[in-house]
Amino acid sequence: HRQLAPFSPDFLWGASTSAYQVEGAWDADGKGRSVQDARTNFPEGTTDYRVAADHYHRFAEDVELFAELGLTAYRFSVAWTRIVPDGDGEVNREGVAFYHRLIDALLERGIEPVLTMYHFDLPQALHEKGGWGSRATVDAFTRYARILFEEFGSKVRYWLTINEQNMMILHGAAIGTAGDAANPQKALYQQNHHMMLAQAETMRLCHELVPGGKIGPAPNISVVYPASPRPEDILAAEDFNAIRNWLYLDMACRGSYNPTAWAWLTEKGIAPEIADSDLEILASGRPDFLALNYYSTATVAAPLDGGGVGAVDGADQQLAVGEEGVFRSVRNEHLPVNAFGWEIDPVGFRTTLRVVHDRYRLPLLVTENGLGAFDTLEADGSVHDPYRIEYLAAHISQMRAAVSDGVEMLGYCPWSAIDLISTHQGVRKRYGFVYVDRDEFDLKELKRYRKDSFFWYQQLIKSDGSEV
Ligand code: BG6
Repeated sequence: HRQLAPFSPDFLWGASTSAYQVEGAWDADGKGRSVQDARTNFPEGTTDYRVAADHYHRFAEDVELFAELGLTAYRFSVAWTRIVPDGDGEVNREGVAFYHRLIDALLERGIEPVLTMYHFDLPQALHEKGGWGSRATVDAFTRYARILFEEFGSKVRYWLTINEQNMMILHGAAIGTAGDAANPQKALYQQNHHMMLAQAETMRLCHELVPGGKIGPAPNISVVYPASPRPEDILAAEDFNAIRNWLYLDMACRGSYNPTAWAWLTEKGIAPEIADSDLEILASGRPDFLALNYYSTATVAAPLDGGGVGAVDGADQQLAVGEEGVFRSVRNEHLPVNAFGWEIDPVGFRTTLRVVHDRYRLPLLVTENGLGAFDTLEADGSVHDPYRIEYLAAHISQMRAAVSDGVEMLGYCPWSAIDLISTHQGVRKRYGFVYVDRDEFDLKELKRYRKDSFFWYQQLIKSDGSEV
């Protein structure tokens, strides 16, 4: 019965969304098309993002709900295509005005805006000109970042560069970064390199243009378990770490490629082309904190002689993808799974926070964590989601244990503030504290209903996290 440290009084109790998944209004007021708007590969029976939760038109009502919930932070993303519709051309004042209205509404309610600059929604016009494969996209992003700093720098303190760059590389086809046919993996890691450059430039610019501004990357990070104590499995887990975790965080924090990851890229013939000046650029930008998204852990084993990356049966989990010849992904029999096959691992959350903090010694901000589930709206307008409360409570308890272990934490922004459209399982996979009444294809009235988890989180925030 250890005495746990309290959360600090200025700990940010937040919630998260991303532009294309929540806003809708995909072509309103001069907005350009993003790769998400152009996407057609939706799984059978799931919707597109054109209307989403219609937050663009209902943000005032939503911010009222956030205030009632007691949020002290709101992590959202800006749609690049609202600000610069074609990615590198004219600025769309109406798009800029929308985010001023949103940010002002948050600040009036004492809610700290946490702004993601880019969350899976590259402008389609840039995509058609080669996307992240082209160096011009680095310049376009840096220019876009400058516009954001100049517009919102006096209002926004916390900035996130690129959401889940590591998942964009892993699931390129789903998130609009797919490589070209000849050597798709080489193309992906070239895109990755360009994103690293854009991120470094952006971090440097933030410090130049936003006095007191704090900026960091926001990858999806989790510890990885070896499937057994077999030395080959331990090595496989280390390789997972190098390729999926440290490649991204070493670059952000140390400005250089992780040596194991680089050796793997070189050996496979998929290492990116690096210009002489790149190393200087990569070394010039540093984060003030690390943001991370955490849903579940990964478990891996050494590759089999015959090859194969080992798909986990029935799972659609983000991390359950192996790497040919390096590691296989396996199911962790110690962990329960959610309705969508994702493993649930609160203790792994504590371990992840400790490992990341220990490795980089920067404060951590959790920008996503949550449970995707099928929720039911009852006739009286209630939504009973004890499974979500259980998930969040378990993770918050473990986060508190991590704080007690010495991890410096800035805040916790679970996914998601309100229901929105999942990355590839439609509207039916819900994460929010607020139920948004629509089906995949029947938009109904898009009315908002507070779930049981809303009242639970409200109470938790009131108690500064002590009443988990
Ligand atoms: C993260 C993304 O990968 O996980 C979010 O940053 C996403 O955009 C979330 O929605 C949950 O994944 P999914 O596929 O269940 O929506």
